[in-house]
Amino acid sequence: MASVPHSSEAMGTSRTQSASGEKIRLHIVRHNPADPASVPHVQTYELEQTAGMTLFIALSEVRDTLDPSLQFDFVCRAGICGSCAMVINGRPGLACRTLTQNVGPEITLAPLPVFELIGDLSVDTGNWMRAMSERLETWVHMKQQEVDLTRIEETMDPDLADKIYELDRCIECGCCVAACGTALMRKDFVGAVGLNKIGRFRLDPREARTDDDYYELVGDDSGVFGCMSLLACHDVCPKDLPLQTQIAFIRRKMVGKVWR
Ligand code: SF4
Ligand code: F3S
Ligand code: FES
Repeated sequence: MASVPHSSEAMGTSRTQSASGEKIRLHIVRHNPADPASVPHVQTYELEQTAGMTLFIALSEVRDTLDPSLQFDFVCRAGICGSCAMVINGRPGLACRTLTQNVGPEITLAPLPVFELIGDLSVDTGNWMRAMSERLETWVHMKQQEVDLTRIEETMDPDLADKIYELDRCIECGCCVAACGTALMRKDFVGAVGLNKIGRFRLDPREARTDDDYYELVGDDSGVFGCMSLLACHDVCPKDLPLQTQIAFIRRKMVGKVWR
């Protein structure tokens, strides 16, 4: 089930704003909350752009050659781990999947809002995601409780498995949360990432929970009724998850529970 390439995922996009060999300037928000003397400010670094340069490569070059104190996160460099999300020219996205030629030559970088700032471009999405996962219990609550290792595993319809896999592609990067007006205003909002997870478990035939249980979890303003349909989440998701459809569907189901 192929996913449609997103602007930040489409590394080969033909929109070229700056060329190889040209100077690019990174304007980066710097702040170290652990240092009482630190004052938030913007620092500018100038680099020569190379062919195929991503923001990951550019930031690594800054750290290696210009400023070893610059903080930012990367693990996979392949759009899989979600750790390099940051605000790129005002829009949340993955730095490792963004070509400098598509966002330069003047590039502003800031940490994702909503999440706790560790320093510079590094934020703690892990604690936020963990709290959301614990609250929504984002694991399968098995209908079949007893473990019987001799029993043949039940099969799943391939089309249904594909639909579940489609929603399971979330990398918990936090872009949808950082782009969401409700998440900025309400600390307890579960975000599109959380609502997408409810959609995923609703589909799972092994799952024991019903819509009554999901209503208890997301049937209020910290859940699906806090969503104002701003849809920035859908626009920025680097994995092109169908967040708009998921949120609308879950809202319809939960409204059904209000009027039962
Ligand atoms: Fe990132 Fe998309 Fe998952 Fe949100 S739903 S955390 S934007 S992958
Ligand atoms: Fe936020 Fe997305 Fe709803 S941006 S308000 S969760 S549609
Ligand atoms: Fe893993 Fe960018 S470094 S998604």
